Amino acid sequence: MELLQSLLLALNGVIGIPSLSLLSWAIYYDLSRSEIPPGFDSPLKLRGLHCLTIMAFTAGKCLELLGICRQVAVIRFLMNFWNPRVDPSLSAKDLLFDGVPVRVYQPKTPSAGPRKGFMFFHGGAGMIGSIAFYEDVCSKIAKETDSVVVSVGYGLGPENPYPNQYVECLRALVYFMRNVADYHVDSSRIIVGGDSCGANFATRLCQLLVDRKDLPKVHAQLLIYPALQGMDFNLPSYQQNSQVPMLFRQMVSHYTCLFLNKNTSLANDVLEGCHVPEHVRLKYQKWVNGDLIPEEFKVRGYKPQDPKICKFKPKVYEEMKQLLELTFSPLFAEDAVICKLPQTYLLTCEFDVLRDDGLLYKKRLEDNGVSVKWVHLANGFHAVAVCFGYGYLSFPVADQIAESVVEFVKSL
Ligand SMILES: *[C@@H]1O[C@H](CO)[C@@H](O)[C@H](O)[C@H]1NC(C)=O
Repeated sequence: MELLQSLLLALNGVIGIPSLSLLSWAIYYDLSRSEIPPGFDSPLKLRGLHCLTIMAFTAGKCLELLGICRQVAVIRFLMNFWNPRVDPSLSAKDLLFDGVPVRVYQPKTPSAGPRKGFMFFHGGAGMIGSIAFYEDVCSKIAKETDSVVVSVGYGLGPENPYPNQYVECLRALVYFMRNVADYHVDSSRIIVGGDSCGANFATRLCQLLVDRKDLPKVHAQLLIYPALQGMDFNLPSYQQNSQVPMLFRQMVSHYTCLFLNKNTSLANDVLEGCHVPEHVRLKYQKWVNGDLIPEEFKVRGYKPQDPKICKFKPKVYEEMKQLLELTFSPLFAEDAVICKLPQTYLLTCEFDVLRDDGLLYKKRLEDNGVSVKWVHLANGFHAVAVCFGYGYLSFPVADQIAESVVEFVKSL
């Protein structure tokens, strides 16, 4: 009995005290740092979800500082606790497409003719997220649109270094395009999409494929709050939502440094734009500029900033110039490429630092005559789509995203 008591006490010390401290820290951090935008419909729930995330990130940081494992490993481990379920009306097969792990969701009911095929790249800053974490969303799309959904498990950074993610996603897509018949998919109705960094991969891949005569044309691209450029972190949405969970402005540059295997001490210089040479800024400001954002989006806490106040630092540029490549910043693609892109579904969230990346790409697509189905969620925040299917942890906007994606895919 005594042994049991001391064991329980010890266990409490090992688990209880650290988790209580973690929880208190998370609540303190959330209350002191985050800003829930006025008018947001579920503020308490957003704070709750944010606290859970902070606990995971902080636990990861502590274990990293203790030299036990890396922070991302802890977050990935914790994310695996979700227990997704595949809808019984679907078959889900884990396969390799040219060496890249994928899960293929197919409706079990026979179909009259070939189906649409939707290749999905998940988000997570290129370092977290998994096929399993997006199972509910992918199942819903496959089931309700009677399509074949291929969810791609590209290798995560930083251990799988940038730009391998793009190479792997492209390999999986090309393999799918060449083998559609095996999945009863119509090669003229292939849709490519993703959320957050996954939408960035999808954007770049669609650009890379516009002139490929040996492959079928992509039928549509589907971009959910895409990240599309690494030049300007002071666009109106970055200023307005800099402290809105789940993605603080500061986290964008911090996790970008980690993803690119760079020292995170460069993150602040990147936020200020010190990595951008004058000639690059002049070249791209016609496409990346707060002036191009419609006025209706600037009424909430935005001060125009003179780009000249950023001091160019050649050493930061040398380290971080990958941010300005077309791969990382597909918003910089030439008109000659953009005008050949397929019809597009583009979703932006009002309370998201990346809102303006989406709005700027929408403008580029429309200026180049590409048809855009734009969905803007006035109550949306970054990463909310991953909550879909997680019951009490979810938000009505997550359902809205899933519904509108389904509606778009059905319409194709
Ligand atoms: C990152 O940069 C800081 C400041 O320049 C330096 O002190 C630190 O040693 C660097 N870390 C690594 C891993 O290079």
